[in-house]
Amino acid sequence: MIMQSYSEFEDFVCPAANAVDLKFVSHEKDFDDNSTVFHPDYTHQVFGENEVIFGYKKLQVKLYYTPGHLNTFIGINYAGKIDPKKHEGLKADGILETLAELVEGGFTTNQDEFLAKLPDEAKFHPYGELLEAYRKDDVQYEIYKIETVTPGFASYHSRLQVFLLWFVDASSFLDIDDDKWNFYMLYEKHIENGQPFYSIVGYLTLYNYYAYPDKIRPRISQALIFPPYQRQHHGTKLLNAVYNDLIVQKDVYDITVEDPSDGFVALRDMLDCQNCQTLPKFQPPMIHQAFTNATATAAREKFKINKKQCQRVYEILRLRATDRNNTEQYKNYRLTVKNRLNAPFQKEKKDLEKLKHFVGSNELTDVSTKLSNEERMAKLQEAYKQLEQDYQAVIEKLATL
Ligand SMILES: CC(C)(COP(=O)(O)OP(=O)(O)OC[C@H]1O[C@@H](n2cnc3c(N)ncnc32)[C@H](O)[C@@H]1OP(=O)(O)O)[C@@H](O)C(=O)NCCC(=O)NCCS
Repeated sequence: MIMQSYSEFEDFVCPAANAVDLKFVSHEKDFDDNSTVFHPDYTHQVFGENEVIFGYKKLQVKLYYTPGHLNTFIGINYAGKIDPKKHEGLKADGILETLAELVEGGFTTNQDEFLAKLPDEAKFHPYGELLEAYRKDDVQYEIYKIETVTPGFASYHSRLQVFLLWFVDASSFLDIDDDKWNFYMLYEKHIENGQPFYSIVGYLTLYNYYAYPDKIRPRISQALIFPPYQRQHHGTKLLNAVYNDLIVQKDVYDITVEDPSDGFVALRDMLDCQNCQTLPKFQPPMIHQAFTNATATAAREKFKINKKQCQRVYEILRLRATDRNNTEQYKNYRLTVKNRLNAPFQKEKKDLEKLKHFVGSNELTDVSTKLSNEERMAKLQEAYKQLEQDYQAVIEKLATL
């Protein structure tokens, strides 16, 4: 038997992110409007590490949602499917089976059935309590907070969190029954035929950790602004609403964020810098002094910013206040940041010396000496350079606001 050529199989390999079309369908006319389609950023959590779907030619996977209830339509179209009889027994991936496992609460593959439910969208009202509202380009947006999970919300949330797989690397699903979760939902609100019509824009989840002895330490866990709404400052509005909600709560010690993405880090830096720059400790001349517990306390008391993030904000705002033509001032700045970057290494070295004292130096391999001093300095310099670049981007952005 002649082995079939690699390129013959190659025709049956589709990059999953290209193949999957995501869309919100508010009205019948949206169903065939390709201009509103968006694609996943990540597909490895659904289709595997290689991020491909095997066995189809010219594959299109339609995963359409209504913007209120999140009713789901799945449509799979292709120009050809691999035939195991002709292709060494190779079978096409079971796309519908894979997606069906994810879309809890059901879906339809019938377009008419999906479209028939559209009139119900006008009846959708957000779960929870209205927290804040704002207008942007003549459109109304509303942010709702959910503290108590009702059965209706649990099922709605299970449809919503599927989106995390497409847009957050290494995302995981929540145990919604744990009452320490809070949800902040952002909607666009239109008036249609005299009735409000809500479309999901994004959401954020937060877990209330305990902080000794009598406080809580909310940690932002997941945040998503849907691609059609990204980079229009909705994420900033949502985070700001969360801050406004938590800052006034006396039992909140500070706010942390779990594994933020680069985009979220950038957004948070901007907002935290905007807030902290109003405090004297973050303005010249005081900003040129060392970062102390008093600096951290000032930011925590006023904005509930935690110490680690506060130090970052301090370094950004101090860089902005530093005259980089003033050799002494700039050098002092670099030393401050590099000392902070070097602190974990110094601590590791000290711990190792202590350990050697008790165990005897022959028993231990000194990991910290694996890197020569020159190598360590080079690594430190590299880390510093990257950080200064990131800080500079925030400074430039702040100047435009
Ligand atoms: C990260 C995310 C929440 C940001 O929301 P957003 O509404 O797009 O952000 P904003 O428009 O409020 O951003 C405000 C500023 O933050 C910075 N910023 C935001 N996203 C950025 C990104 N991806 N890269 C670089 N800078 C970014 C920019 O300075 C931006 O201002 P600009 O657009 O005028 O330049 C959103 O893009 C998203 O959901 N991404 C996918 C999922 C994700 O990463 N979630 C966070 C997991 S913790």
